[in-house]
Amino acid sequence: MKRILVTGGTGYIGSHTCVSLLESGKEVYILDSLTNSNKTSIDKIKLIFSKRNIDISNKLHFFKGDLRDKEFIDSVFEKIKKQGNSIDGVIHFAGLKAVAESVNYPLQYWENNVIGSFNLFKSMLENNCKTIVFSSSATVYGNPKDELLKETADINPINTYGSTKFTVENLLKNIFETKTDKWNVAILRYFNPIGAHVSGLIGENPISKPNNIFPLIINAAYEKNKLKVFGNDWPTYDGTCIRDYIHVSDLAEGHLKALDFLFKNNNQLINLNIGTGKGYSVLDLIKTFETVNNVKVPFIFSNRRDGDSCKLIANNLKAKQLLSWYPLKSLEEMCLDGWRWKLMNPRGYS
Ligand code: NAD
Ligand code: WQD
Repeated sequence: MKRILVTGGTGYIGSHTCVSLLESGKEVYILDSLTNSNKTSIDKIKLIFSKRNIDISNKLHFFKGDLRDKEFIDSVFEKIKKQGNSIDGVIHFAGLKAVAESVNYPLQYWENNVIGSFNLFKSMLENNCKTIVFSSSATVYGNPKDELLKETADINPINTYGSTKFTVENLLKNIFETKTDKWNVAILRYFNPIGAHVSGLIGENPISKPNNIFPLIINAAYEKNKLKVFGNDWPTYDGTCIRDYIHVSDLAEGHLKALDFLFKNNNQLINLNIGTGKGYSVLDLIKTFETVNNVKVPFIFSNRRDGDSCKLIANNLKAKQLLSWYPLKSLEEMCLDGWRWKLMNPRGYS
């Protein structure tokens, strides 16, 4: 049985990935500072399994602490070693992710995302753990020329958050290139993850004010405040921007497949786009949400948002071919599951 360290495992994508890892029989060690998450997500993960009469309590462990503190990371590896176990691989989600905030607080973003990752990789090497899946983002492409993005597209981050992600990608590339240590690295560039686990027990629970479209649609539907749609004059079929929305559970499965690929194929460095390859406009998303949930999403059109791209869709062929991973869930399911999470947990985990 493989033992996996999941940094940021109580967060939105991390918690869904823990479910996938546990379903595949892996033992999971979460490391999280809880700066943007809640420990209740762990109880909810356990509940998902107990409802299926599966007891995973001795397969899911939690360490509260911060990646900026290397001694803390070392102590986690040490504790696991003292139990006679070792970590086979790491999935590294922990970090800050709000684009606008990153521009205002660059030092916080570089410290959390880059120094935190640096500490983690150093501790991994010292503990002879050299298999890692890293959460990167389509944001590293910046404002690309092509609308259907391949992994070979130019990298040109246009904000601090994107620069920190690309720096960590580069750090991993340099670590991989060393002759002495044989690392296995998968860099996953996510497009727009939305939705929630089908059980309605775990979902997105941002502690700070959300900026992404999906939690804002949910809030507009629930609280009846008006969503601002950024621009209706884009050169698209309905004038609003197009994105590649992916169900968070499909994204979680992508991590499992990437990790298993690394375990089977030694000394690999792979960059993969994780999206569905399908584009939907902001109005498509709002209308689908309204139809499947039978609820109104009040909105108004406002000016374009600075730095937005008109259309971003993943070319996901590489991930499909290499990992035999296929996104299975439709936009309708993303909207149904996201709303179910809201109705079952109107105040998130709190
Ligand atoms: P999230 O905020 O829900 O999860 C991140 C987790 O990391 C949180 O639980 C937080 O408490 C923890 N964390 C933050 N800084 C930490 C630190 N220094 N030490 C320890 N723990 C720390 O975010 P998410 O949406 O689940 O994103 C997970 C990862 O995926 C992030 O790295 C993010 O940049 C990346 N990503 C997210 C999206 C998206 O749209 N959600 C898209 C592309 C990439
Ligand atoms: C989606 C669409 C907006 C809010 C960002 C990051 C990216 C990644 C995912 C982390 C756009 C429109 C939005 C609103 C709106 N995150 N919109 N009104 O910008 O594609 O990507 O999140 O890595 O790095 O840049 O996602 O959800 O912010 O926007 O009309 O109030 O919704 O213009 O077309 P984006 P988003």
